[in-house]
Order: sequence, then C-alpha cells, then structure tokens
Amino acid sequence: LKLILSPAKPWQISPEWEKHRNYYLDTGAEVFLKQEVPYNITSNPCFSQQSAQLLKQAIHNSAQNQAFRILELGAGLGLFALHLLELLAPDTQIEYWLTDLSIATLKYIEMQPMAQKWIESGLLKLAVLDALNPKEIHDLAGNVLSIESGYFQAILANYQFSTLPTAVLYKQPQGWYQKTVQWESELVETEEITAFCQSWKNALLNRQWLEHIDPTHPQYLFFETLQAVQNNWADCLTPERWSLLPEDTELRAYLLEKISAEWHSALVKNEVLAPESNPESLYESIESLLLTPFFNSIEHTLPRIRRDGLAQIQLADFCPNQDSQIALVKLTEKLPLATIGFPLAAINLIEELAEWLSDQGMWLISDKGYADQSWMQGIHSEEASHHGDSLSHPLNFPYLEAFFQQNAYKVCTTNDEVYAIQTLWAYRVSERNSDWQTTFQSEFAQQNKNEESHAWLEAGHQALKLGNHEQAQRYLTRALRLRPQDATLRYLLSVNLLQQEKYLQAWEHLNSENDDYYGLFNFAILKAETCRLLEQYAEAIPHYQASLKRYGAASTVLYNLGLCFEQLQAHKAAQDVWLQALDLDPNDQEIQDSLKALKSVLL
Ligand SMILES: C[S@@+](CC[C@H](N)C(=O)[O-])C[C@H]1O[C@@H](n2cnc3c(N)ncnc32)[C@H](O)[C@@H]1O
Repeated sequence: LKLILSPAKPWQISPEWEKHRNYYLDTGAEVFLKQEVPYNITSNPCFSQQSAQLLKQAIHNSAQNQAFRILELGAGLGLFALHLLELLAPDTQIEYWLTDLSIATLKYIEMQPMAQKWIESGLLKLAVLDALNPKEIHDLAGNVLSIESGYFQAILANYQFSTLPTAVLYKQPQGWYQKTVQWESELVETEEITAFCQSWKNALLNRQWLEHIDPTHPQYLFFETLQAVQNNWADCLTPERWSLLPEDTELRAYLLEKISAEWHSALVKNEVLAPESNPESLYESIESLLLTPFFNSIEHTLPRIRRDGLAQIQLADFCPNQDSQIALVKLTEKLPLATIGFPLAAINLIEELAEWLSDQGMWLISDKGYADQSWMQGIHSEEASHHGDSLSHPLNFPYLEAFFQQNAYKVCTTNDEVYAIQTLWAYRVSERNSDWQTTFQSEFAQQNKNEESHAWLEAGHQALKLGNHEQAQRYLTRALRLRPQDATLRYLLSVNLLQQEKYLQAWEHLNSENDDYYGLFNFAILKAETCRLLEQYAEAIPHYQASLKRYGAASTVLYNLGLCFEQLQAHKAAQDVWLQALDLDPNDQEIQDSLKALKSVLL
C-alpha cells in the first residue's frame, strides 16, 4: 500500500526549496561555521584577486567623482567582500553593499572586528535582500531602504544563483516538459501501520473546528458536518481496515475520495449542497483542511521515496518574459532533445535589479554550473546537490549568457570542462569598455587560478587525511603559491608538518600572515602544541589560554596546559587545570594518574 506524502509539484516549487530557504534563514552563519556549506569556494584571496582585476577595469572607466557602488547578493560570511575591500579600498572610492537573505548571518558579520572597521568608515553597508523579492531591501534594524535607479555600478553573485529555485525543462519532439517531484511512502511493518493509524486518529481528533466557529457563522453547518465525518474517520482507519484494502490502493487518494463522498452526503442531507453537486468539488477543502496538514506533520517520521515525473508546459506561460523565451528557443534550436536547468528565480532577479544598475553597470556571476552547451544535449537526469539542508542546482551558464545577450548586454564566460566553478561577466554595451574582454580572458578564462588552487587544496587535504604527508606537502604548497595568505592552506600545512614532527617549519606557517579574519581556525592550539613539543613551556601557556578563551574548554587542551605548568614546577596551577580537565572527562585515566602523582608533590 502506497501513500503520497506530498503530491507531484514542479521541482522549483517543491517543499525541498522551502526547507533549503528556511535552513539559511534559521541557521544563519552556523551553516558555514559548522562546515556544512563550504565558504572558501569563492571566499578566498585568489578569487577576490581575480575579481578585483575586473572591477578595477570598471572602476577605471567609471565616473571619477563618485564612489563606485557594488551590490553583492547572497554574500554568506562576507569573506569575499572583506578580501575585496582590502584590495580595492586603498586606491579607490568604494561603497560596498553586502547583502544576504539571512539577517542572522548579517548580524554575525556585523559583530566581527574586521567588518566593523569597514562599516565604521562607511565603505561597507549590510542589508537584507531576498533574491526572490529583491526590491524590498532593508537594513538590519528592519528599515526599508530606497535605492535610486542606476545606483549600482556592479552586482556580484558568488555561489548564489545555484542556490535559487531552478526548474528543469526537457525539450522533446512533441513539446516542452518540466520536471515534477512527488514524495511517497510505503508502510509494510505492522508497527508502522499501527503508529500511522494512531497519528491519524490524534491529528483528526485534535482538529476541533467548532471550538473556533460561532454557531451564527454562515459556514457553521459546513464545519459541523465535517467534524462529524472527521470524527468517524478518526476511528475508521484501523490496521484491520488497512489490511482489507486492495494492494494497489494509494492511501491519500483513497482517503480523499471516501471522506469527500461522506462529507458530500452529509451536506446534501442538511440541504447545504444540492444533490446533483459533485463530491469532487470538496476535494480542495479536504486536502487543505485535513490531508495536507496531516501528511506534512508526519512526513519526517516515515520512510520517504522520491518519484520524479514530467508535466507538459507551454513556454509562453512558463517563461517570465519574452526575452527569456526567445533566449531559450534560440539556445535549443539545434537540439531535438534537451535537458535544461532553467534558472527561473535568477531570471526574475536580473530583470528586477536592472533598474538599480547604472547604464555602464555590470554583473559578475560565479557559480557551480554547466561549462558549455554539451550538458544540455539529450534527456537525462539533473540534480541539485545538498550541503546540510541547502540545495545547489548547477547553474545554466549558456542559458544565462543567451538571456543577457537578448537583453543587450555584452557577455564573457569561462567554459572550462575541468572546473566546476564557472564565471560570467555581463556588461552594458559601450565604446569605453570594449577592452574589458582582455582582462576577463587573462584573469578567468586562460588560467583559472581559483579553481586550480581549489583542486590542489582538495587533493592536499585528501592526502593529509590518508597520511600521505609528502604528497600533501607538495599539493598544499602548490595551492599556496596561487593563494598566498589563505588560512585554510596555512592551517593544513601546519597540521601536515606537525604530524611529521617538523615543528620549526610548522611554526613558520603558523606565524605567517593569513586571512582568517573571523578566527575560524584554531591556530592558537597548534601554536601551543608546537611550543610544548619544542619544550618551550612558558611560551606555550598563553597560546593554550587563548585557545580556551576563543574555542572553549576541552579536556585535552586543559591537560596539556597542565603538563606545561608541571614542567615549570607550577604544581598548584597544574592541579587547577587538571581538575578542570577531570570535570570534563571524569573517566580519563591519564588525568586521574597525573593528579594522583601531583598530590604527593603538593603534600
Ligand atoms: C552557498 S552560500 C554562498 C555564500 C557566499 N556567496 C560564498 O560564496 O561563500 C549561498 C548564500 O546565498 C544565500 N541565499 C540563499 N537564498 C537566498 C535568497 N533567496 N536571497 C538572497 N540570498 C540567498 C544564503 O543565505 C547563503 O549565504
């Protein structure tokens, strides 16, 4: 017996996207801090350097007597912006609007000293902007901000468009289709069925309409009859009845039909509905009053099966405007069969923000996406990937390029098959900026340093995890050449060297300048351990203390700090921290033994 938890919906409006959106809204900066969503894909010194070269070109061509105004969408932790400001601000007048959907993330950024420096100088502004409703921009106090038309010279979106709801379209000889998604479940075990029937009963008995409706209400009879039918169905759906249903029954449809029919007869009997009326006219009410709330509430408790489907569409109804339709038709002209990630929300966003972009304005979009048109050939499955509860659907760069061109922009794109992150630069046509393409070619297309360094970083990290220290060292060093100051690299290199007992080399990395603006990496503990292993006990102590203060107490940190005190004959201090360590880890034999040994010394 099958049951539909959530009926077929176009993929772009399926509940998965709602969950994804709420994940960013509710979890805030933690989505990055817990390392569930990677933040250094584009938030690193190398990528900012590449982007800065393009922006410098635009700044050079822009009006010199006003600040160059940049709007960044979905900025996440804002590390890209901080890198960029370091590169641009010393020589140019900048006004940088760092925006995101999540006010919690923006508030986190606001508290960071590195960001405060720029906020206080007026260069950096933080604002809430929902890409699904972009014109309603407001500050962190909730005040609506009004933006003059043509205000921004550049709009940036890094690893953001792919996180906006995306439709999947299929072109076939008989027409256009969109992907739909339905969630189903199948209950087999007796306990599962019994639990399901019990939840159903509770849910129905808890929905007491008459408690909220006055007898004089015009629809009182509607709800009174519904209540009676509902109470009956609360008892009616038992495991025994379940076992008598034919095997191919789909439970949701079965309940919809049966309950509607019963309610319909009650309404006819009470002369609320005419006898010739159709019970199907009640389907929508039964769905929204009973079935949807119930299935939504139990969905997470059941095994879920996803079923993808197809629904035919008319392009004219589906595309938000004529330009988007023309771009799609042109792009797929030569493809009899095609699979297309269609960035519906992104198209709307570009359209809506066009008014805020100056005549010379530009878009710079970097994201995980299609390198070229070959991705679209044929009918195949196309999926979004998950990070935590967030989704990332590969961005269709060839389509975006066609769309921008249709809107009279000039466009440069990368199209490297090897790399996941692609970049698109679209700018309004003007004579003055015709040489920009050369900058794009040299910074992004010819050698994609960010992607290359990312690949070395990933390979180095992998080798480190496998204990291949020599290999890890080579890969991470290559990455560091392209991304000097990258904190992730400095951290991994130090760990790699420490694991090989190369303390002095590790010490050099630990003390090199890095871009860990928010203290995301615990360099303090690595410094402390290095000093201790070099037998520099007095030097180690402040680093242990810094680690405890910034990253919280941990029994091993306290224990190793105690070892340093002990080496310096500070027995009382050693005892204090070991007792704290024991509090956190009462069964640890090593801490217990050390305290026992110390007791005799202190006596
Ligand atoms: C994958 S993260 C990328 C963050 C950052 N740009 C980076 O490259 O590290 C996606 C970001 O988009 C934001 N986001 C998701 N949906 C959004 C929406 N509808 N409007 C604006 N931002 C959104 C999320 O809050 C998150 O910060």
